Amino acid sequence: MFLKDAGLSVDLAGLRLINPTMLASGILGYSVEPLAEIAKRGCGGVVTKSVCLKPRIGYANPTIVEAGVGLINAMGLPNPGIDEYAEELSEMKSTLPIPVVASVFGFSAAEYVAVSKKAVRAGVDGVELNVSCPHVRDTGSELGQDPLLLSKVVRAVKTAVDKPVLVKLTPNVTSVVELARTAERDGADALTIMNTVKAMAIDVETGMPILANQVGGLSGPAIKPIAVRHVFDVYETVEIPILGCGGIGDWRDAVEFLLAGASAVQIGTAVAMRGVGVFGEVVRGIRKYMRKKGLRSVGEIVGLSHRR
Ligand SMILES: Cc1cc2nc3c(=O)[nH]c(=O)nc-3n(C[C@H](O)[C@H](O)[C@H](O)COP(=O)(O)O)c2cc1C
Repeated sequence: MFLKDAGLSVDLAGLRLINPTMLASGILGYSVEPLAEIAKRGCGGVVTKSVCLKPRIGYANPTIVEAGVGLINAMGLPNPGIDEYAEELSEMKSTLPIPVVASVFGFSAAEYVAVSKKAVRAGVDGVELNVSCPHVRDTGSELGQDPLLLSKVVRAVKTAVDKPVLVKLTPNVTSVVELARTAERDGADALTIMNTVKAMAIDVETGMPILANQVGGLSGPAIKPIAVRHVFDVYETVEIPILGCGGIGDWRDAVEFLLAGASAVQIGTAVAMRGVGVFGEVVRGIRKYMRKKGLRSVGEIVGLSHRR
């Protein structure tokens, strides 16, 4: 196992990570092979691509545009549906030596429940509720922006499954803190902060939006300071652990999130752009940082920037 070091391990609401890194949802497709590869290369846990009840085709191309400071994507949450995907989830569980969290979504609380139950039955270690996708109607951030709807979804899933429930929040709201409080009150075991920032790009030659869906979600370096700030604010108000996500490209970025209050981090765009070596670099960097600062565990870094 890559870098087995007790000081790097994190117990995140019952998820035992060998180090504080996870693959963010949606980055490496649906099959087991690339996930097995990142596990070998130092990734501490994976979040799968988001899955719902029935198969979805997603949007027409172009679905991704490089925006110089990151990617804007509007994939439309394509997925094979949980019944087909459950087999893949079982295989992931029997193949991967690291925790597997299924990212789930639905178009009602009942659908979130049905998909979560099937994912848990397939053996996953936890579910992450995608209540934050910014580009699909009647799900994602349309549910996650509204405390009442969010509350309904979180409560329903929490009563239906006995595995850790992570809630992935959207930054496309006036107050992420309010949503974080709501999710915590309704039983969320951890929060993932954050999903992509609503954005668009226009082609100056055609004069038209580039993405087929026009609007998408910005990820990558440009959103890191926004995500760090949300993690910092939420850490001051909730007790449950936070997974920091948004623009992490190297160990310094990861440590910044830990200092802000994240217990672990998720990495997305950097894996898509630079490959699976990112996890090893980040984990080695965190370990060096801990040695330099005389820290014995990752937990000692968490929230340090809140010292007064
Ligand atoms: C191509 C692409 C597909 C994504 N698909 C999903 C998804 O299916 N579910 C989800 O919750 N987030 C999805 N995301 C959002 C990422 O999980 C992550 O929250 C976001 O990209 C910010 O992190 P990053 O800057 O490290 O990429 C996707 C992001 C990208 C770039």
